[in-house]
Amino acid sequence: MYRLKATVLTFILLGHTVYSDSTRSLAREPRMLKSRNSTYFGEINISNFPECAYTNCITSDQLSPSRLGCVEPELTTDCLCSKAPTPLSCSPEGPSDQDNCWASLEDWFAGECNGSVALIDSSTMPECIQDCVFNFLKNEGCATQTRNCFCILPRNPIVQAATSCYAANCTKKKASSFSPAEWHDNICNLGETPAYDQSGYDSYVTMVHRVRLSMAILVGLISIVLTVIGIGLLWDDDEDDNAGGVACIVIAIALVLLIIVPVYTAL
Ligand SMILES: *[C@@H]1O[C@H](CO)[C@@H](O)[C@H](O)[C@H]1NC(C)=O
Ligand SMILES: *[C@@H]1O[C@H](CO)[C@@H](O)[C@H](O)[C@H]1NC(C)=O
Ligand SMILES: *[C@@H]1O[C@H](CO)[C@@H](O)[C@H](O)[C@H]1NC(C)=O
Ligand SMILES: *[C@@H]1O[C@H](CO)[C@@H](O)[C@H](O)[C@H]1NC(C)=O
Repeated sequence: MYRLKATVLTFILLGHTVYSDSTRSLAREPRMLKSRNSTYFGEINISNFPECAYTNCITSDQLSPSRLGCVEPELTTDCLCSKAPTPLSCSPEGPSDQDNCWASLEDWFAGECNGSVALIDSSTMPECIQDCVFNFLKNEGCATQTRNCFCILPRNPIVQAATSCYAANCTKKKASSFSPAEWHDNICNLGETPAYDQSGYDSYVTMVHRVRLSMAILVGLISIVLTVIGIGLLWDDDEDDNAGGVACIVIAIALVLLIIVPVYTAL
């Protein structure tokens, strides 16, 4: 008898616990739904959100402010459009993929942010790599040079591309203050990168131009004079002068090879 009562009591208690849990979770639902009805996610109008990314981005909560690295309780335009380095990382397809979901998502993003989307600022890199880097990004599917697209591409190929752009088009032996890896990580982890100080590079390039020009003129003139003297001596009938003539011409050629060539290849 006692046992039966106890069992019934236990059932009632358990039932009550389960019941109050379910009422509590029912009570929580409407509050969640309020800020994410089918039109809005926080401040953001998602009625035109691309279907292909809806599950990945909206249903899965990947666009919540905390996932994007913002502190506001609800998603704001400022967070989505300006602060978050990779707001579209929830995309099921990357920029390099053939599928156009990425493109739809970026179009939606650009429209929703109305032109206030963070771009890769060309002033963050040396002038001599800008065209090359932007061409690389374009080939990878980032036609609009948004930070969002940039940061979603795999890191190493970008760093390698910037490094080889530098090697291909920038003056060689400048002890560079530009670090492609640091540049990439500042943009994608901190959201901003200080402008590259072009002045040091520019004055180096100017110095190289001056050295090249002045050495070419100086050594060129000396070599021409030596060659003329050498030819004069060779033309002379005096056999003894032939050795001197050859020596003059050899010295002229040596000067060009030993001074002009290094000045052009090593700097
Ligand atoms: C959805 O939420 C927004 C703002 O949070 C509100 O203005 C709008 O009326 C809501 N729409 C519906 C259908 O509840
Ligand atoms: C949300 O965006 C859609 C499509 O751009 C638009 O038709 C609708 O009016 C917007 N809703 C609000 C409340 O602005
Ligand atoms: C978009 O921005 C432009 C100017 O930057 C402004 O004139 C326009 O009203 C904005 N449109 C929307 C829908 O916010
Ligand atoms: C190479 O550098 C020059 C001068 O800075 C620049 O005008 C040019 O666009 C660069 N080329 C590439 C491919 O980056």
